Amino acid sequence: MVRVDFQREKVIEAAGEDQTLLEISRAAGIPHVAACGGNARCSTCRVVVVDHLENVEPRTPAEQQLAKRKGFDDNIRLACQTKVCGPVTVRRLVIDEEDMRMIQSDRSPNATGKDRRLAILFSDIRNFTPFAESHLPYDVIHILGRYFRKMGGPVLEHGGYIDKYMGDGIMAIFGLSREDPADACLDAVSAGLGMLAALDDLNHYLKRQFDTTFRIGIGIHVGPVIIGEMGHPEKMQFTAIGDPVNIASRIESATKEFGASLLVSEDVCKLIGERIEVGRRKQVNLKGKTGSHQLTEVLGLAPEQST
Ligand code: FES
Repeated sequence: MVRVDFQREKVIEAAGEDQTLLEISRAAGIPHVAACGGNARCSTCRVVVVDHLENVEPRTPAEQQLAKRKGFDDNIRLACQTKVCGPVTVRRLVIDEEDMRMIQSDRSPNATGKDRRLAILFSDIRNFTPFAESHLPYDVIHILGRYFRKMGGPVLEHGGYIDKYMGDGIMAIFGLSREDPADACLDAVSAGLGMLAALDDLNHYLKRQFDTTFRIGIGIHVGPVIIGEMGHPEKMQFTAIGDPVNIASRIESATKEFGASLLVSEDVCKLIGERIEVGRRKQVNLKGKTGSHQLTEVLGLAPEQST
């Protein structure tokens, strides 16, 4: 007998280990969707293994193929292909028609979420609103376009992904193709320093053409986030969500009050403190977050990093 807990549905004592999860659930009367008839082609039978992944048999070659194409994490399994050798807790992922439509329109390997430890960078132009209010729409869009080109360069150069633009703000994530979060942090800090250098360049142009200059604030944090494609099928976007994203955004906001251009969290410092040149440190309260957070100003890379 094998105990299979279909979370929030039924706990089943299955007869033997030869049955697939799909056979077990259907025999117990669970309306388990299986659009391709159990042939590892549709993935509508998918389940997440919530507990005891060690009791789940390895993927069949057919499942391996589909899992690779869909970008499934190890704990997302096809019920029609999966057998278990001990107690497990699973949860069906396709429950209703809407779930069916959503997964049938998935074309991307990033459509299912993944946990990753990434570095997140937020930047914002400090004094952009007065500039936008006092200039022609053409100039505003032209300058923003020029600004985003300049800022995007260092992000891409250091392996970052430009997650989104929010008005004049930029959110970028680092570490998507890195194993070590410390490398992700160093990439993010290097990109931030590159953005500040690129801003100097842009400011020469702004001074000459518009008699103004911009100041920017950059905040960087590292932590576990969920990444994946999200949104309406007509406008899906790959993005990262989670508390570390909110914290990075708050750190960027804190640059104003701190009077610094580039601030990093304590977690970033723990990982790469030896590899960066730091300035002032302060305990600050971040808006909407409990407790105080130590923020550190970054002045540059440690000499051996910048060679
Ligand atoms: S029923 Fe189609 S993949 Fe399992």
